[in-house]
Amino acid sequence: IPVDPFDLVIFGGTGDLARRKILPALFRRFCSGQMEDESRIIGAARSDHDQAEYRQMVADAIAEFNTSTTCEAGTIEAFVERIDYVHVDAKGEEGWDKLASMMHPNRVRAFYFSVAPSLFGDLAERLHRHGMADGESRIVVEKPFGRDLDTARALNDVLAQHFDESQIYRIDHYLGKETVQNLMAVRFGNMLFEPLWNSQYVDHIQITVAETVGVGGRGEYYDRSGAMRDMVQNHLMQLLCLIAMEPPAQFDPDAVRDEKLKVIRALNAVEPKDMVRGQYGRSEDGSDYLKDVENPRASSESFIAMRVGISNWRWAGTPFYLRTGKKLRARASEIAVVFKETPHSIFGPEAGRHRNILTIRLQPNEGMDLDVTIKEPGPGGMRLVDVPLDMTFAEALGPEAEDVPDAYERLIMDVIRGNQTLFMRGDEVEAAWAWTDPIIAGWEERGDRPVTYEPGSSGPEDSLALMHRDGRRWREIKP
Ligand code: BG6
Repeated sequence: IPVDPFDLVIFGGTGDLARRKILPALFRRFCSGQMEDESRIIGAARSDHDQAEYRQMVADAIAEFNTSTTCEAGTIEAFVERIDYVHVDAKGEEGWDKLASMMHPNRVRAFYFSVAPSLFGDLAERLHRHGMADGESRIVVEKPFGRDLDTARALNDVLAQHFDESQIYRIDHYLGKETVQNLMAVRFGNMLFEPLWNSQYVDHIQITVAETVGVGGRGEYYDRSGAMRDMVQNHLMQLLCLIAMEPPAQFDPDAVRDEKLKVIRALNAVEPKDMVRGQYGRSEDGSDYLKDVENPRASSESFIAMRVGISNWRWAGTPFYLRTGKKLRARASEIAVVFKETPHSIFGPEAGRHRNILTIRLQPNEGMDLDVTIKEPGPGGMRLVDVPLDMTFAEALGPEAEDVPDAYERLIMDVIRGNQTLFMRGDEVEAAWAWTDPIIAGWEERGDRPVTYEPGSSGPEDSLALMHRDGRRWREIKP
């Protein structure tokens, strides 16, 4: 279904995120016929380009980064016809009148702040001053949204001077992932799971986001962040919220975000014994974490595992184990809900111990498994085995599900439609930092240093011990 015509301005329109993610996502929505002819995309940046040069840059970016196979040849040329460029100075006056004159009256306008957070205030102020902050205007901001509670508050305050909360779209691209939304569909669209979704029946929950890449060319940023700020405060926190929250009354922005906020506020402080931090050691190519971040004394972490408790009626007593890291064995992200054993086995001790596990695979190979216990075939008596009821979306739903849309496609179109459900509200981000800050402050006070782990492994040995100690095991990280 096409969305209403819009003007979308990308500040930082020549930058990495625009080229890799935002423009290819818009291109794919264009291919699917979601963009009306009148819609415009305007790149805005400090460098001096004319329209033709910028269109060429966009065409090159799409040729390089578009992964979808459903766009027909020739569509790139048609797509770039909607693209314009304006040279603006975020901190000066140049370009702003021109940009304002390019806006169509009575149209949805979205301003994507794909720039350093230090520029958010300048951009918001100028948009406001030049009459571009009214009713149908929206701004989209990327992480990092602050690096602690104080900086996040300062960002929220500066944006609030010029825009209403209902106009602010804080992106966490994990919320745009197809399977993450499916998590809500499965929880709240089925009768099967919700009655069991509590500490009486759930032994524990594991959330793993494993990557094979290192910190790449982002060493400087990464060393200032570490996995805690880069991944846990936002992406893993969001996954945890969706798994743990109470059923919202409606699938609407504030109903969902109110429930997520309650989860964050109910998170326990994490004790040092319940956390393991790691840095990847030397790979075959001779590099290691310290080299990659260009800081031989770096104490930031490329891996973290933690045991988190939630103090509320539903979850008291059920631990949540989170882990994420770079240079691990495989790129594999999943959530596993591990149910308790049956209270009594009628089949006797030789039948073994069995558990149902619901696994939600976020990427790759999106889908779900439910491990159920059945009788081992054959005449050998009542022996039990666990088999997965496999629901790989691509198999179950056909070719449509194979071309999984990128998170940004969904999220950008939600901005245009004015739907904030999959975006973080200001108070949510602040609550997440309020939980994160003391953890990081603790490391700093104690002078904690991450341990080294082998690239291509499942992370530090200590992270395995974190589970063994509780008589549990991580699920294997496998391709
Ligand atoms: C980003 C982090 O937000 O998410 C990166 O800054 C990380 O460090 C990335 O690699 C992971 O996203 P995805 O979609 O590849 O799982």
